[in-house]
Amino acid sequence: MNIAHTRAFNALVFLMLLVFSLLTMSGAHADQTEASKEQQMRQQTQPLNNAPVWRGVASGQENFTTTKGRETGVLIQKSGQEWRLIRNEMIVKYGGWIVALTFLAIVAVFLIKGPVKLPEARTGKLIERFTSAERMAHWTMAFSFVALGVTGLILIFGKYVLAPVFGLTLFSWLAAFSKTVHNFVGPLFAVSIIVFFVMYVKDNMPEKSDMQWLLKGGGLFGHAPAGRFNMGEKVWFWGGVTFLGIAVSFTGFILDFPNFDQTRLTMQQAHIVHASAALVFITMSLGHIYIGSIGMEGALEAMRDGYVDETWAKAHHEEWFNDIKSGKVSAIRSKEGGATLGSQVYQP
Ligand code: HEM
Repeated sequence: MNIAHTRAFNALVFLMLLVFSLLTMSGAHADQTEASKEQQMRQQTQPLNNAPVWRGVASGQENFTTTKGRETGVLIQKSGQEWRLIRNEMIVKYGGWIVALTFLAIVAVFLIKGPVKLPEARTGKLIERFTSAERMAHWTMAFSFVALGVTGLILIFGKYVLAPVFGLTLFSWLAAFSKTVHNFVGPLFAVSIIVFFVMYVKDNMPEKSDMQWLLKGGGLFGHAPAGRFNMGEKVWFWGGVTFLGIAVSFTGFILDFPNFDQTRLTMQQAHIVHASAALVFITMSLGHIYIGSIGMEGALEAMRDGYVDETWAKAHHEEWFNDIKSGKVSAIRSKEGGATLGSQVYQP
């Protein structure tokens, strides 16, 4: 091929490329014009509807950003919609009913049956049931739990129950306040369950009397002897404080500290476990709080003042009382308890 031929060939290739580019550009231009026309029409028929843009954003397709980190290229993560549905359609709906119905059932038991009374008169002889350190550990855990429970319930059900009554302005203030309290009290609760566990685990080990206590329905079908803690308390200790306590604390930390580069999916999964476990925990706590306060004569005194009457110990924890009677276990657990009870202390 001579030089003239080569030039002619190059000119032909250039011309073909030019024609091809013009055709593609005009096609793209036509597409863009079509899209913008469609958008203009949409703005007239449905003002502020920017669906195509949001469809692109919600596609989950990774784009470009200068911010560094996992998932930073994805503006909206698609499975967030599934998480939203699980939260709103399942956890809020079924969890709400479980908590509300349990609360109503407890109110009904109180109104129909009333509190469990002592079977005999008090003797005035007292036994130290909890030391001040044990009571402090219990109340730190209990108050932090109640603060978390109340603020958690406001965060999950407030939009449906409180916002229509208080209005959106007051409710948004309350929700922001609840969120802050919840975030700060969470770690305190997590630490309190560890301290509580160490102090109480020894007397929550399985015993022979546990099965008997269960078969007697915890006293519903006749006298149910128990050690220092009965089977109901042990279920609360292991299933509630230990298992659910660890579940809500662990997932709570994942949600409280999003700065460990966890993905949104991890936080969504943590949230589902956190909210579900917390609602079961709150439901169980309603029964415990009832029995520990107005549901049983003499129970609150044990956790408030630290000691119980001989009659109470015999009626509710007979095996423990027998150990004290035989001298196997002391009626006094601390120096301070001995000094407070003085001559009123139970003598085996
Ligand atoms: C705020 C209201 C509460 C009240 C009035 C209350 C009352 C009581 C009482 C009176 C006892 C002593 C029972 C006995 O002498 O056998 C007790 C024990 C106990 N409480 Fe509470 N409590 C409350 C909240 C909580 C919470 C929120 C938790 C857990 C998060 C909890 C966990 C326990 C445990 C595990 C025991 C000891 C039972 C065992 O170790 O087996 N309490 N409570």
